[in-house]
Amino acid sequence: MTAQIHPAPGHHLRTWPRRAWRAMTLLATIVALVSFRYLFGKGPVPPNLPLNPYFHPWLVIHATGAATALLVGSLQFLPSLRQRLPAVHRAVGRVYVAACLVGGVSALVLAPGVSAGPVAGAGFGALGIAWLVTTAIAVRRIVAGDVAAHRRWMVRSFALTLAAVALRLYLPLSSVLGVEFLLAYRVIAWLCWVPNLLLAQWYLARRTQPS
Ligand code: HEM
Repeated sequence: MTAQIHPAPGHHLRTWPRRAWRAMTLLATIVALVSFRYLFGKGPVPPNLPLNPYFHPWLVIHATGAATALLVGSLQFLPSLRQRLPAVHRAVGRVYVAACLVGGVSALVLAPGVSAGPVAGAGFGALGIAWLVTTAIAVRRIVAGDVAAHRRWMVRSFALTLAAVALRLYLPLSSVLGVEFLLAYRVIAWLCWVPNLLLAQWYLARRTQPS
């Protein structure tokens, strides 16, 4: 925390992410915990989901893997954890990458079966590919010892992980706005991640200080 208050040129760039980090972590944790219900077979299932022919067993695998990535991912962006406990950063990083692999591969199985049709399926499919690719590049960069590039690719990867949060904000919002469910679902299959990725690019371009 104290590392955040050193006045320095552009220091405002270092203080707002802390607040943003808290909000992001809170939302990510809620969505992750709610999503673990599939693993325990408890709680409501959206009516369109069992229409996906790959629902069994892929949805449980997907929800569990992806929710794990969502739950642990934001820890990795805490500078204090990275600096003071690098072994924890590496261990949590391995869990995150494994969870993205499980969540991403299972998402690619589910995408062609999305009952809202090919536009929604393509949106989720493209997200799944982008998720796996950004995460894989981030791993390759750190194996090569390029910390700065690793950070940038992990920011992109986690921005895509947060598509799960965006989706669960936009869907209820679209319903409040009276948008028809199928139309909303098709649009949101794209809208849940493309702006996230653009926002991550904007954030990376604006950042003046390495961490
Ligand atoms: C980032 C890449 C992701 C892709 C490509 C993806 C793709 C999909 C697809 C195709 C479905 C089935 C939708 C349907 O049949 O209509 C689904 C459902 C689901 N996904 Fe993901 N997903 C991703 C990330 C996540 C994350 C990070 C979570 C974390 C919680 C998550 C949790 C769920 C849950 C819980 C469902 C069941 C639907 C619901 O209860 O709202 N997904 N996802």
